Parts: sequence; structure tokens; C-alpha cells
Amino acid sequence: MSQLPLFEHYPLLLKNLPHVSLAQLPTPVARVEHPLTGHDVEIYIKRDDLSAAVYGGNKVRKLEFLLGRALSGGAKAVMTFGAAGSNHALATAIYARQTGLKSISMLLPQPNAQSIRRNLLMGFHVGAELHHYETQPQLNLGVVYQMQRHLIRDGRLPHVIPPGGSSPIGTVGFVNAALELKRQVEEGVLPEPDCLYAASGTMGTVIGLLLGLAASGLRTRVVAVRVTPPPYTTAEKARALYEMANGLLHDADSQFPIIPFPENRFELRDEFFSPGYGVFTETIVEAIRRAKSSAGIKIEGTYTGKAFAALLADAESGALRGKTALFWHTYNSHDFTKEIAQVDYRALPKEFHRYFEEEVQALDPSERI
Ligand SMILES: Cc1ncc(COP(=O)(O)O)c(C=O)c1O
Repeated sequence: MSQLPLFEHYPLLLKNLPHVSLAQLPTPVARVEHPLTGHDVEIYIKRDDLSAAVYGGNKVRKLEFLLGRALSGGAKAVMTFGAAGSNHALATAIYARQTGLKSISMLLPQPNAQSIRRNLLMGFHVGAELHHYETQPQLNLGVVYQMQRHLIRDGRLPHVIPPGGSSPIGTVGFVNAALELKRQVEEGVLPEPDCLYAASGTMGTVIGLLLGLAASGLRTRVVAVRVTPPPYTTAEKARALYEMANGLLHDADSQFPIIPFPENRFELRDEFFSPGYGVFTETIVEAIRRAKSSAGIKIEGTYTGKAFAALLADAESGALRGKTALFWHTYNSHDFTKEIAQVDYRALPKEFHRYFEEEVQALDPSERI
């Protein structure tokens, strides 16, 4: 039924892991034709921004497994978590609806940006139930309340999807992504990359890739660029998530080997994170500008801008001389301006109005909505 390389290599996984097809795979790979720096570096881009027709980005790969599991368990609704402008919460809302599930987004404050407005309006447009809490303890209480409310209403609890979709099962989506990359290397779409750069938010993307690369025999090093504080991104979590995802795959198909954590192929980079989650800096804005002018891609300041800034810095320092680097583009690039044009923000719960009534942060380079 499915052409996922993961299922072709390990057919028992197809039998044992519930999966729903949502993405358009494989995603294309593009070569950056204009040199980004004076140094001799080959740069390719994995266009996961085009991973699905409606809403691309990295989340859809995880949701194929996460929603597969929710549906196989008979769920009627899914509940997930994120910051106010969470791409993950929006992707969950869009694909939950597509598969007949309701979605509940439990959201926390973040520094204001145009993309938050867009995502909130789109989430509302696709029927997500949106809740905003000032603090984590308040959100925790909100979870108890909303769980009970939905239990009474639906006769069962919502299926919980963790922040960023980075459970072991969500991470499997990126194990498949690495096998997809391996196939593209074999087909001559790109040479075997020496390293790949991706944002690390809740770590499912970088850890799924690390495990999939190890399983596929590619020697590509994963450069995980921190965009969130602990506990969302930590070295300990990297290892724990890797081992849990590896154990899950091995249990579901013993042909999938247990592979020790590839210490020397994983690097966690911290220096582009400051001053904090969702805050744009001059360096990030410059990276966004150069991604557009040299590589023709549209990235943003919270995730992809930081990962691209790390790649640029390494290319400029000479650290990548003579090497092939792959930038994993994790941000949706489909425009949904039309869908949100008719949505009035005042129809959203009033806790969200401030994102529309207060100024966005000064360095936000995106167009006003
Ligand atoms: C655009 C974008 N890139 C990267 C990430 C990070 O992915 P992960 O949470 O798997 O580390 C996210 C997560 O929210 C995202 O929205």
C-alpha cells in the first residue's frame, strides 16, 4: 500500500505500526547554485517545506504515525501542546481534521510575530479548539479540565500528542526521512552529505534523522541547532529519545537493529539560541535574507533561521571547506493567506487578541497581516 522506504526495508513495520498517508514523499532536493560564501562548499536543501499539499514542513512526517496511532485506538479527538504560534499545533489541527478527528491546542505565550497571527487564524479556520494559558502550571490544570470536558462530551479521553509530536512514534517519521535521503543519494540526486543542519525544537526531527542515517549506513553528521531551552532540547533527551525510538522499531520488527547512539555523528549547537525561544536577532534576520537571495527559500526566525545561521557561520569560518552540507528545510512554504483572509481575530478566544493588538517584535521581517 505504502511506498515509504521504511516499510520497504522492514515490512513487519507496515503490519505493526499504524500509519496514515498524509505527506507527498519523497520531498525534493535542491542544489544551491549561488555560492553562499567565498569558501568551497556544496550546499543542498531538503525541501520538507513542500512535504504536503495543504501544509508542509516537518510535522506531517511525524503526524503520519501519530495520527495513525490515534485512529487505530479509536480516538475522536487529539490534544497537543505548543507556543501560541506553534507550527506543530497548526499541522496537527489541519491533519486531524483531514482524518476526521477533532483537535485541541493547549498553548503558552511567546514573543509576538506575524507568523503567530497567521497560525492562530489558520488553526481557528480549520476548527481547532484553541486554549491559551499564561504559565505551565495553569496549562497543566487546563489539561485536567479539558480532558474531563471531552470525556463527558465524546465518551472518551482525547488522544494526547506531546509537544512537537516528538514521542518515539512521531520520531519514526524522521527515521523514514533518512532512508528516503539514502535512496536519493543512491539515485544520484545528491552526493552523500558530510553533514546536515536542522533546528532542534523538541528533537524528534534531528533524532529520527540520526537513527535513520545510522540504520541506512549513511555517514552524514547531524548538526542539531538549539532553538528551545531545556528540557525541550538537551543532550540527555537526545540519547533517551534515540534509544526509545530504536527500541520501538526493533520491537515492531526485529530486523531493525539496535544501534548504539552514534556519539561522533551528533553535534548539539547552542550559540544561535540566545536570547531565547522565538526571539529574532540581527544574525537570524540576515540568515533569512541570505536564504532568500542565494537559495531562493523562505525561512523564518524561530526555527529555520537559526539552523541556517549555523550553516552560514560554519561555511564562512572555513569549517565546511571541500564538504557537502545539507540544510533540512522544516518550515511550511505553502501560502494560506486566502484561507485566513475572512477570519476576524475577534472570533478567537479573547486571550489570543493580544497577538493581534500588540506590536510584533521589532526585527520580525515578515509581511504584515
Ligand atoms: C519550522 C520548524 N522547524 C523545526 C522544528 C523543530 O522540530 P522538532 O520539534 O522535531 O525538533 C519545528 C518544531 O516545532 C518547526 O516548527
